[in-house]
Amino acid sequence: MIDLGIIKEAKVALSSAADERAVAELRVKYLGRKGLVTAELKSVGTLAPRERAAAGAAANKASAEIEAAIAEAENRLRLAKLEQSTQDARLDLTAPSDVRIGHLHPVGQLMDEIVRLFWQMGFSVADGPEVETEWYNFEALLVGADHPARDMQDTFYSTTPGLLPRTHTSGVQVRYMETHEPPIRIIAPGKVYRNEDEDNRHLWMFYQVEGLVVDKGISMADLKGTLLAMLKGLLGDDIGLRLRPNFFPYTEPSVEMDATCIICRGKGCRTCSGTGWIELGGAGMVHPQVLRNVGIDPHVYSGFAFGFGPERIALVKYGIDDIRYFWRPDLRFLEQF
Ligand code: PHE
Repeated sequence: MIDLGIIKEAKVALSSAADERAVAELRVKYLGRKGLVTAELKSVGTLAPRERAAAGAAANKASAEIEAAIAEAENRLRLAKLEQSTQDARLDLTAPSDVRIGHLHPVGQLMDEIVRLFWQMGFSVADGPEVETEWYNFEALLVGADHPARDMQDTFYSTTPGLLPRTHTSGVQVRYMETHEPPIRIIAPGKVYRNEDEDNRHLWMFYQVEGLVVDKGISMADLKGTLLAMLKGLLGDDIGLRLRPNFFPYTEPSVEMDATCIICRGKGCRTCSGTGWIELGGAGMVHPQVLRNVGIDPHVYSGFAFGFGPERIALVKYGIDDIRYFWRPDLRFLEQF
């Protein structure tokens, strides 16, 4: 007759089996070909006939009970495994995240606005290299090697003769006119470099937006109207534009352009050095010789050109009193925009 202790022992072992292998081993131990229960079943035939029925039934019951305990153990292990894998793969959507969402740089945002405003006036965007030849940066704009106007912009020179980080975007004017016929209406935004001491309104690297319009009958009035339209679009209808006589070898007449300082509304403050105006850049009517050099007849066509610094506009637009903030990697400043 089967010892009931075997069933108990098997159940205890199965209920604490740590993995599937342990369960398999227990199955072999009790129900395998040479297993303990199997041996009992086999021995039933050797018993006296009157003992056989009870012994057989007991052995069968033991076998069924152990079989059930094995199934239970297998189930328990399978569930534990499932639990573990969902645990491992769990995605907690409420967990705080320290991923920072970036955004466009304030000057980039302003550039986009400027491009959009000119685009609405029918301008397209042209491009030129940041490392420019002396020819396009100076000579083609009638600034010869000995011309005193070279001193107007403190140039960084490179170790490669004839190449320099461009001091302005005006070279793009010439590049564009060489390859396009009038009517021309472009802006050319981009970085420029000058060997300048930094202060609250000057940087050694800054952006410029060059503009060029060449067509029949273009005048200074078109220049002023275009610039004013852009400034009003950016800064509001009450902005003023002031043109002051100036000199550039490649424009005649030439002007310096100022916008009302909207921080103090023209009263005078630190940003505008007490003048009430912010200097934006230069402009003028394209010099007839510049047109002639690129094969455009100045008796038929005339044009205006301008170049201004968007950072200067950003100062006024955002009410910032120091231009250096823009190109310092200080997120506390940049995150405000
Ligand atoms: N290139 C001039 C500057 O950088 C600005 C300018 C552009 C002037 C076009 C006249 C015409 O100061």
